[in-house]
Parts: sequence; C-alpha cells; structure tokens
Amino acid sequence: MQDVIDELTGRRARAREGGGERRIASQHAKGKLSARERIELLLDENSFEEWDMFVEHRSAEFGMADRKVPGDGVVTGWGTISGRLVFVFSQDFTVFGGSLSESHATKICKIMDRALQVGAPVIGLNDSGGARIQEGVDSLAGYAEVFQRNVLASGVVPQVSLIMGPCAGGAVYSPAMTDFIFMVKDTSYMFVTGPDVVKTVTHEVVSHEELGGAVTHTTRSGVADLAWENDVEALAQTRRLMDFLPASNRENPPVLETSDPFDRVEPALDTLVPSNPNKPYDIKELVTRVVDEQDFFEIQPAHAANIVVGFGRMEGSTVGLVANQPMVLAGCLDIEASRKAARFVRFCDCFNIPIMTFVDVPGFLPGTDQEHGGIIKHGSKLLYAYAEATVPKLTCITRKAYGGAYVVMASKHLRGDINYAWPTAEVAVMGSKGAVEIIFRSDLDDPGRMEARAAEYQERFANPFVAASRGFVDEVITPRNTRRRLCNALRMLRGKELRNPWKKHDNIPL
Ligand code: HXC
Repeated sequence: MQDVIDELTGRRARAREGGGERRIASQHAKGKLSARERIELLLDENSFEEWDMFVEHRSAEFGMADRKVPGDGVVTGWGTISGRLVFVFSQDFTVFGGSLSESHATKICKIMDRALQVGAPVIGLNDSGGARIQEGVDSLAGYAEVFQRNVLASGVVPQVSLIMGPCAGGAVYSPAMTDFIFMVKDTSYMFVTGPDVVKTVTHEVVSHEELGGAVTHTTRSGVADLAWENDVEALAQTRRLMDFLPASNRENPPVLETSDPFDRVEPALDTLVPSNPNKPYDIKELVTRVVDEQDFFEIQPAHAANIVVGFGRMEGSTVGLVANQPMVLAGCLDIEASRKAARFVRFCDCFNIPIMTFVDVPGFLPGTDQEHGGIIKHGSKLLYAYAEATVPKLTCITRKAYGGAYVVMASKHLRGDINYAWPTAEVAVMGSKGAVEIIFRSDLDDPGRMEARAAEYQERFANPFVAASRGFVDEVITPRNTRRRLCNALRMLRGKELRNPWKKHDNIPL
C-alpha cells in the first residue's frame, strides 16, 4: 500500500512542478506568480480542490508524443472565497507557454459545466501563448468549446477574467464574453493582432503595452475594467469583488455584517451641490457617503469617467450604483458612458442586484463625433437596459435631469420604483438659457429681455416640484437623509416581483 501512496505522492509532486524550476524562476523574474501561487492567493487557505492534475495532451505531431507534462498547462478545480464556492482555472505559462491544447480546453470546460450545474462563479486566470500551435485545429475547437460555455454561463453565474500575461488572437474572446476583466500593469496584454501584424498591415509602430496593455484597455478601449499594479493586488481585489456578487442568478447577493447605522445623517450632503448650476462637484462624494462604511468598489473608473458605476452595500446587501459625474464632460451621456453603464445595469439585473442611480445630467453630448459614432444606437443601450431591468430601481436626482437623458436615467417612466429628488433638482426639457433661445427666438436681439425670460423659465421649471406634482418624483428629500430614505426604500422593495413578457431573448441595439 505504501508503494502506491508513494507513487501518488511522486506523481503529484511532478505535476506541481509544471514546466520546472527554471521556467518558474523566469516567470518570477518577469514579476509574475506561478499558476499555483495565484490560486493560493485567490482562494481561502487550504480550500483548493484540484481536478485533472494528471491530464495530458494526446498530440503526437512535432515530437509532442515525448513532451507531456501532467496537467497540460492549466490548473483547474474549485475552492472558496470568504467561505463561498467558486470554480477556477489558472493557465500555467511554464508549460508550453500556457498554450491551449484540446486537453487543456477540456479541463476548463469541465469546471465550467460543473459551475453552471451547481450555480457558482467561474474565475479564469489567463496567462497563455494562445492556441497550441502543434495541435492545429484541435486547439481551435477547444477554444470554441470554451466560448460556447462562456455564452451559456452568461447571466447564470458570474464569470471573471484576470489577464496576467499574454492573451492574443481569438483567445481574447473568452475573457471578452465574461462579466469583468482585470488586468495587471506591464505584464499583461490583450489584442486580436499583435504589434508585428499591425506594422505589416498598417505600417503603424506600436508597443505591446500601448496596443493592448492594462492602461490602454482600462482607459481608451474600455475592454477591461480595472488595472492593478501586480498579481498580488489583482488577486486580492478579485476576492473583494466576489464578496459583492451572488453565486448565481438563482440567489440574492450575500449579506455582510455592518455596524453602519441605516439612518446615518450626512449634513455635508446639504451643501454638496453648489449654488452655481454650472459649477461641478464630485458625485463620488455622494456615493461613498451613502453606502455602508464608505466601501465603494468602482468598475471602470478610468474609462468614460462622466458616468460612475460600481458596487456598494446598504445594510449589508449589495447594490449597484450608477451616477452621472458633473466633474467630467459636465456629466453628459456620450457613447462610451452609455455603453459602460448599460452593461453594468444589465449585469446587476441578471444577478438580482438592486440599482441605485444618482442623476445630474445636462443631456447627451453634442458633436459630429458622437452622431457619426452612433450615439443614437449606443445611447439607446442605457435606456433599454434600465427599461428591461426588473430588480429594485431607486433613483435620486441631485441637480440636472434634462430632456431625453432625464428619461434614460432610471426615471419613473422606465419603471423606477422609488424616484427621489433633492430640493436642488431641475427636472426640465433643457437648461433655461437654451429653452428661452428657442421659444422666444424673436427676442434674441434684446439681451435684457432674454435674461428676464431665462430667469422666469428657471423659476418656473428648474425645480423638482413640477415633476413631483405629477408623481414622476415620489418625494423631495433632504440631502442629509438620503441614506436613510434609500435604505428604507430597499427594505420596502425586498419582496418585489416583476416579470417581462416571455421572449426567446431580447434584441438590444448592439
Ligand atoms: C505552443 C507555445 C506557444 C503556442 C508559446 N509556446 N506559445 N507552444 N503553442 N502558442 C511555448 C514556447 O515554445 C516556449 O516553449 C514557451 O512556450 C515560452 O515561450 P517563449 O516564446 O520562450 O516566451 P516569451 O518570450 O515570453 O514569449 C511569449 C509569447 C510567444 C509572446 C506568447 O511565445 C509567442 O509569440 N507565442 C506564439 C503566440 C501565437 O502566435 N499563438 C497563436 C495565436 S493565434 P519552451 O519549451 O521553450 O519553454 C490563437 C488563435 C486562437 O491563439 C483562436 C481562438 C478561436
């Protein structure tokens, strides 16, 4: 008996070596952790249960029959984060560059299938040279199997991707279809075609980092959500994110203990909105003062910063927060902001996370760039996302809520459950200056008269009370009491049930 146990111990030790000490050292020299070290940091201590440690590839081409490494370049299994089940795969760059073979793909698919069946998130740690070149189309088929599962799991269990090394070519499309992408600065990149191909085809000279590094994707392209300094930080922040999310669409988000009183009064909010309507203020101040313990996990902070999205908690339960940011583009909605917020709202709706929206929006951003870039279609995504969402929807208008953007931002008309406004709110078709320039065009040559007209319009419409008189605003609230009012509204909505008409799936304007 001891013999066979020794044999097992030996085999396990060999599998754990991956590509060997030299390659692990080279991984460390690049500032990267090994596949197994990453899993250890991601999961609760000693919670990892490995699967398929001894799986090998079945390729014989190009001398591969003699080059087999147990595990075949990916470590897979399950474990817990804060005691809650997650499935994980971690590509091992020390084994054939983490490249994806048929067997490697089969291992990933196996944990995805099980995650879907039991209702638990899938976290993918990506560090791979792409398709296993020696395997040809078998490798491509493997990718396709993973893609298919990404789609089937979408909206059923949360899927999170960490890019911790190369991720190029068609391989990018698996992370792209997951819910969140985190990247590590300087050591990770994502692109469909790399710098060499770009140079050949378009004659542009561009570095890996510039083309598809963490900063590029979290600022310009918006492909990734957050960029972290190193592997350790990326893994710690993934744990933090997971604490906000339910295990599947069949569950409510977890409830964490909190000592923050639900009725905490925030006097500073009474003076947050400046008296000059054109002066910006930081909407994140409101967001952090409202949520439990100021704990706000912002998603895509550096991309489309004119809208702020992220997770927080109210009385321990997760909420999704969406807020126009007057500090950037005056909080206007543009193509990128609409897409960013729409995707976030849809994520929350998939996973039973109530949405709290803070509104200060002067309208959609004007310009040929926006019109020719398709703001009509992209702007409608956010409208669509709010309108289809059936989770509790709480809205608070702090200042401007103008025109179409007023309707879009979780208005009463899109089945907003509770729509509050601060006394500083201005719910109108547009700002007073623009309004009088249209309706009193004949007075344009008389600045004094125009000023008086504008003041009259401001007095009449730039307030929350017209909307409140129609019931489009449920209540005008004192800013300092915002947290209490929203906590009470969430309690009231706990039992909310709302279903959309049956359909195979919707046809959101893509
Ligand atoms: C097999 C691979 C490999 C691959 C790397 N290796 N990529 N083996 N298939 N795709 C192996 C190397 O042979 C080497 O083996 C080890 O991994 C480390 O690679 P290095 O080149 O030494 O490392 P580094 O200098 O860090 O460069 C990493 C790299 C480079 C940038 C990823 O290896 C590279 O360009 N690889 C090819 C990338 C590629 O073209 N892949 C296909 C993309 S198309 P040894 O034994 O020496 O350690 C694709 C399509 C997907 O992926 C389609 C989905 C539908």
